[in-house]
Amino acid sequence: MRVGIIGGGVIGLGIGWRLAQAGCAVTLFERDRAGSGASHAAAGMLAAGIETEPGERDLFTLNHQSQALWPDFAADVQAASGLDIGYRTEGTLRIALTRDDAAKLRHELAFQQSMGVALEWLTPAQAREREPYLDAKLAGAVFSPADHQVDNRKLAPALAAAFSKAGGVLREGQKIERIEIEAGRARALRTASGLHEFDVIVLAAGAWSGLIEGFPPLPVRPVKGQMLALQMNPAAPLAHHVIWAPGVYIVPRADGRLVIGATVEERGFDGALTAGGLLALLDGAWRALPGIEELPVIETWAGFRPGSRDDAPILGASGIDGLIFATGHHRNGILLTPVTVAAVTETILSGVSDPRILAFSMTRFQKRQQAA
Ligand code: GLY
Repeated sequence: MRVGIIGGGVIGLGIGWRLAQAGCAVTLFERDRAGSGASHAAAGMLAAGIETEPGERDLFTLNHQSQALWPDFAADVQAASGLDIGYRTEGTLRIALTRDDAAKLRHELAFQQSMGVALEWLTPAQAREREPYLDAKLAGAVFSPADHQVDNRKLAPALAAAFSKAGGVLREGQKIERIEIEAGRARALRTASGLHEFDVIVLAAGAWSGLIEGFPPLPVRPVKGQMLALQMNPAAPLAHHVIWAPGVYIVPRADGRLVIGATVEERGFDGALTAGGLLALLDGAWRALPGIEELPVIETWAGFRPGSRDDAPILGASGIDGLIFATGHHRNGILLTPVTVAAVTETILSGVSDPRILAFSMTRFQKRQQAA
């Protein structure tokens, strides 16, 4: 089977890797460099537990299915690529700095535990046993042992290496102008260099998915996130866990980078860094970990999450034969990579929609429109 994939982020690379392993002839088109979009900008948090919110039951299930797949997925990617991806299992702390924060955290904890998420309430002393540099005003914390992290900037190159080793063809700097659809079937991709024919086409272009021509526009838009990184001494890091503080998250890497994110902004593809955005991040991180004050700022950046109309991904059958969607992952693209890769690959190889992604098909928007 000839498969064309649009988008060289972790989702497209992962699907391409598994399809190439299964014997498909896979060509992946990336408008820029592989892994240079949201896969590069992300923080790599695998936070299915701590991010559980009311009213997202289908997404809750998908997030947890993917989280459960992560350890094996990480081992497989590392084995196939020969590259480390910085998978870390210390877990995540969500902290409260005021009595109000603590009351809110306890309220959310009760809901999350009612959903079966394994979370633990920590007193300030218990939280500081885990993270001694947390601010003295700490009012309590929730510990989520299953919310691990991966270094997304290592994951994307590892997936690209695994994809190439499996026989996949990566074409970087190749913008797709159009998906050619004839008699209700997706047949080819048009680039500046010509027409490329395929049996199946996968759209995994993240925030850029709504810009491809040739079929009804997808409800996917860029949701901007500004971020920054500080440099800690890797031999004496200020933090070991992923830490969620009010308005900000803090992610320590093994090499001493301390990633701080992220704003959530509706600014289209405007990637400007703003004083207000960076101030909010630094202020939130400093209130949680005052010791960051002396650390050098080593990088600032902005990325674009692919947000859908209901913030859930758009996966599987598109309503057009031969065209499969794997996009719209919003805040959860890295977390959802293993389940998306497994389910979309299975759907393509078997020709039958994988049950795990049925609730996330494009048709849900059409059904809601009809019901309204
Ligand atoms: N998942 C983190 C973010 O979207 O900022």
